[in-house]
Amino acid sequence: MSTPETQAPEAASQPTPPRTQSNGGGDGVILRVEDIHTYYGAIHAIKGVSLEVRDGEIVTLIGANGAGKSTTLRSINGLNPPRDGRITFKGEDITNRSAHHIVKMGISQSPEGRRLFPRMTVLENLEMGAFQRDDKANFPEDLDRVYTLFPRLAERKTQKAGTLSGGEQQMVAIGRALMARPKLLMLDEPSMGLAPIFVEKIFEIVVEINQQGTPILLVEQNALMALDVAKRGYVMETGVIALTDSAAALRQNDQVQKAYLGIA
Ligand SMILES: Nc1ncnc2c1ncn2[C@@H]1O[C@H](COP(=O)(O)OP(=O)(O)OP(=O)(O)O)[C@@H](O)[C@H]1O
Ligand SMILES: [Mg+2]
Repeated sequence: MSTPETQAPEAASQPTPPRTQSNGGGDGVILRVEDIHTYYGAIHAIKGVSLEVRDGEIVTLIGANGAGKSTTLRSINGLNPPRDGRITFKGEDITNRSAHHIVKMGISQSPEGRRLFPRMTVLENLEMGAFQRDDKANFPEDLDRVYTLFPRLAERKTQKAGTLSGGEQQMVAIGRALMARPKLLMLDEPSMGLAPIFVEKIFEIVVEINQQGTPILLVEQNALMALDVAKRGYVMETGVIALTDSAAALRQNDQVQKAYLGIA
């Protein structure tokens, strides 16, 4: 077993904690995906994807419907492990570890389509996020953090999640992922289906979570917003990484502007 306890308080207290030992590599890379191939039965959905996330970064993965963004996240979180290639997290090979083990190591995700427990209250849904953690003592502090980020959830903690608006449900999904005290947060389309005002709010909160010390791998269809908040980006096309660069460079890239930013 690893001993994450020594690092646990940093998310709440320090904006950008120095982590010389935490990634096991010394180069700041916390997640490394190397040439993975992932299948659904005979369908070869991911065909040799490599990417990395370093300490402190927001990294975005953008691309059209069906490009393989969610499948890449499912390859990382253990729900659909790759058949070939390698994934390391903080220096440990997690390629074939169980989803349960991967959550325990500190990768937590707000899934596409939210997947809340609709008949449970907001508070009960948030409690589920902390479920796999050993250090339950920090629960009140983490709940406080979520309620500070999302005051709306504090007001509605006893409301059934299924009766919340779409934007509020998205807040619960992100809040629930945060309750696991992630060392890497993966978000799959957090802005999907939201009104512009909620989209802005969600992206502000993504930045705030990152500034509190959590690296983020952000999957988005809203490439404009994603490239605004991210440090670096990867553009996926039908199972491969077509392009990678700093977010600023991708925003200026002709191909990206035409295909994803609606600029002719
Ligand atoms: N359970 C599944 N069984 C078979 N094929 C699947 C399954 N899930 C996804 N696929 C296929 O894998 C490919 C990648 O899908 P994926 O969901 O990763 O795309 P995506 O980039 O997340 O798209 P979107 O932007 O629409 O969410 C698609 O061709 C999709 O049809
Ligand atoms: Mg998807």
